[in-house]
Amino acid sequence: MSTLKALVLSGGKGTRLRPLTYTSAKQLIPVANKPILFYVLDSIVAANVRDIGIIISPETGDEIRRAVGDGGRWGAKIEYIVQDVPGGLAHAVKVARPFLADSPFVMYLGDNLVGDRLNAYVDLFQGDKADAVILLKPVGDPSAFGVAKTADDGSIIRLVEKPEKPESNLALVGVYIFSPAVHDAIDRLKPSARGELEITDAIQELINHGCTVRSRTLDKWWLDTGKKDDILSANTVVLEEYTTLDIKGRVDKLSQVTGMVGIGKGTEIVNSKIHGPVLIGEDVRVANSFIGPSSSIGSQCSIINSAIENCVILEDVQIEGIDRIEDSLIGRSTKINRNNSNHKALRVMLGDDSRVEV
Ligand code: G1P
Repeated sequence: MSTLKALVLSGGKGTRLRPLTYTSAKQLIPVANKPILFYVLDSIVAANVRDIGIIISPETGDEIRRAVGDGGRWGAKIEYIVQDVPGGLAHAVKVARPFLADSPFVMYLGDNLVGDRLNAYVDLFQGDKADAVILLKPVGDPSAFGVAKTADDGSIIRLVEKPEKPESNLALVGVYIFSPAVHDAIDRLKPSARGELEITDAIQELINHGCTVRSRTLDKWWLDTGKKDDILSANTVVLEEYTTLDIKGRVDKLSQVTGMVGIGKGTEIVNSKIHGPVLIGEDVRVANSFIGPSSSIGSQCSIINSAIENCVILEDVQIEGIDRIEDSLIGRSTKINRNNSNHKALRVMLGDDSRVEV
């Protein structure tokens, strides 16, 4: 069998993450101070797959190319493939056909984070000479996903994309392994109700033609980072799983650091409490503040006289004199400060599609 390639889908508009996605691709939003897409590439390379195609859109493709480069930092070879129209996941596979040629491939959605290593699924695919391996996970809101109905022995009876009345709570995770048989299946597809060529329909088509499709339920976590609260959950899970005590910056004697906390070089913590898991980037200044669990703070931020908990804060953000900010996702170079008059009004300059809860 020829060697496995990988296809990473990193196009799309990210409408549910506006305004952040007006200026940045959703796959580059950081979780624990690292772009989501980088976790995807780490996971592919950890499964020993080094020939990677990344599907990009005309709108955000250049930013993704700049951030990821030629793959050298992963020891991988990366090729970029432009999908001119958002025609669906199966359409992206069609566009990638010249890159994929007749190789089997892992397909990974660039906004999905998966706690499991891929190796066992690759072994299953190769051992069973399967045409597809799909991963499933029980979820609370299956109608937001592709949904699988399985038999008692685990075999798949039916797959339906975003069903109004889901037949199970098993969602299709955005990680798949395919043999080249998927290309013929895709060639037979018609666009779905949302006008896209659905990968879910392509897998159903493989089943209809008697191809071997295997499924496994993920052992660990799966996070689809499409919305603000998904990013916050992903940040919490990744911080809890990977943060170790690693202090490269300076913490003064009046400060207290507890739990797993990473502090980057050039960062200064003055008269503050940091309660992990927390990750703070480089050249950040924290003074007279509390940084509570599940917070990630990007480089060059300054947090003064404030309390923060369960937040993802991107680079170069300034927060001063705010009693408490929690459960928030704050874009680059934002400034939030108290005006010192007794005037209680809120004064804001917010981008299109911003959200403020007071
Ligand atoms: C896509 C797939 C869906 C899958 C989901 C996982 O949905 O079509 O079957 O469950 O990814 O993230 P989309 O992100 O296109 O809504």
